Amino acid sequence: MATALAFRTAAPSLPKASPFLIAQEYAAYTTEQHGVWAELVRRRMPQLEQNAALEYLDGFETLCLPYDRLPNLAAVSAKLERRTGWNATPVSGFMPAPAFFEMLAARRFPTTTWLRKRDSLEYTPEPDIFHDVFGHVPMHAHPVFADFLAHYGQLCARINDEAILERIGRVFWYTVEFGLIRQHGQVRVYGSGLISSNGECSNVIGGGCAVKSFVLDEVLRTPVKVDEMHRLLFAIESFDEIYEAMHTLEARIDCGSRLKD
Ligand SMILES: [Fe+2]
Repeated sequence: MATALAFRTAAPSLPKASPFLIAQEYAAYTTEQHGVWAELVRRRMPQLEQNAALEYLDGFETLCLPYDRLPNLAAVSAKLERRTGWNATPVSGFMPAPAFFEMLAARRFPTTTWLRKRDSLEYTPEPDIFHDVFGHVPMHAHPVFADFLAHYGQLCARINDEAILERIGRVFWYTVEFGLIRQHGQVRVYGSGLISSNGECSNVIGGGCAVKSFVLDEVLRTPVKVDEMHRLLFAIESFDEIYEAMHTLEARIDCGSRLKD
């Protein structure tokens, strides 16, 4: 059973990430942009109410994420920090890995502030605020998932070996981005890439994708494919599994394992 790690709520020092930190200019969002957010939520919610992890749905309600307007990140973070120490921190966009890991380790989730346009509701080549907040942030209100993600950042932040980071990145991909969980006899989604995308989520629900039980070594052996619908994803039974997997990974790395096939 996972136990909550100690977390701090004071602003951390982020020397690698600081060039990418920005303010969310909330007043600058247009009526059209608020309308696009509302349309995206309206499209996704019916499927998620039936197929999203209960922890995701609880997180969405706990954080009072808005249905009808873009989220104010400061308001979301105020609620989130009281629960798990996490914060949705505005960033300018893509970040190099060391800066990204530094933020995760400090429970600061790099959060974009731009929003896709109405003519590309289903797909954006890079994450936007809908992917980051609607897709990711509700899970950060769950204490075990919150500890798992911070530990992922802490572990990756001290690794310089690109091959090892690529392997550990597969764990991130098949959990944080495309994770599944079995609940009450049903496979449900909790990864942001599934939460925020009707196409990806429908592919899983519709049986277009094989679902295997989460086994760390198999996840480490499964390359990430970013340019096609998934044909294989992994389902956990509880979030304790991925919390424990991070500790297993850390122990292996500390004893010199190369995480080979
Ligand atoms: Fe993501």
